Amino acid sequence: MNLTDRVVVITGGAGGIGAALARRFTAEGAAAVVLADLDADAARAVAAGIGPAVHPTAVDVTDEEQVRALVDDAERRYGRIDLFCANAGVASGGGLEVDDAGWDRAWRVNVLAHVYSARAVLPGMLARGGGHLLHTCSAAGVLTAVGDAPYTATKHAAVGFAEWLSITYRDRGIRVSALCPQGVDTPMLADGMAAGHLGARVIAASGDVLTPDQVAEATVEGLAEERFLILPHPEVAGYARRRAEDPDGWQAGLRKLVRRLTS
Ligand SMILES: NC(=O)c1ccc[n+]([C@@H]2O[C@H](COP(=O)([O-])OP(=O)(O)OC[C@H]3O[C@@H](n4cnc5c(N)ncnc54)[C@H](O)[C@@H]3O)[C@@H](O)[C@H]2O)c1
Repeated sequence: MNLTDRVVVITGGAGGIGAALARRFTAEGAAAVVLADLDADAARAVAAGIGPAVHPTAVDVTDEEQVRALVDDAERRYGRIDLFCANAGVASGGGLEVDDAGWDRAWRVNVLAHVYSARAVLPGMLARGGGHLLHTCSAAGVLTAVGDAPYTATKHAAVGFAEWLSITYRDRGIRVSALCPQGVDTPMLADGMAAGHLGARVIAASGDVLTPDQVAEATVEGLAEERFLILPHPEVAGYARRRAEDPDGWQAGLRKLVRRLTS
């Protein structure tokens, strides 16, 4: 997908990776970018800093009615949605001690929201003969997130769901991409570092922490090539290969890193 004249919706667009995608897609000539977030004030501030092509709005992606209204409103306003970016996500920073409410939140934001947006946006895309879904998952979805059990489980589910969509709908004109970065310098990672979460420290020690703009650059390249798996950190492909070929060795390597960080 080339972004010129495209109509794009981005959830979780009030900061971090979502805001960088909005900036970059606008620079690439997108006709309109709907920037939706739980934090409507922050979305408005980001949109004002980019320009009139960006339309900020409020959404809670865990509420199916709100997701449907977001899609209906964008289609009414702009006639179509070419690219829907399900980007909102939450981390927990915890393990078995995370209560059911924490697991539920991770499941609803990181997975179920992707189901809601696919349900809402696919009928229009299929009727028009094409469209692209970009699901921000994580390297945690093809590897693991040390120190964060709900994030690991739900990001694996998100990659699995995106793959299912791609296999099911590609021959009907729908492209699906799973964006799987490792560490990115956003409020999510900064908050984890400030709280001293092990997961954030492992990410920082595991390789380059990219800027959101670098992730947006990799995303534009991946969309142009219509790739399913978009890996802003290319080394993640090697880690995933090692995990598949030698799971015990791969886990031992991670445990060694954790011992080094916690001793
Ligand atoms: N930062 C990283 O290191 C990293 C790495 C891999 C993947 N990711 C993923 O990238 C995506 C973007 O995260 P980010 O790093 O930019 O962090 P971020 O915290 O800056 O952005 C997440 C955004 O999602 C919004 N959000 C949360 N719950 C929502 C809801 N119910 N409805 C609507 N919006 C909601 C937040 O308000 C926030 O603006 C997430 O899916 C995250 O899991 C981040």
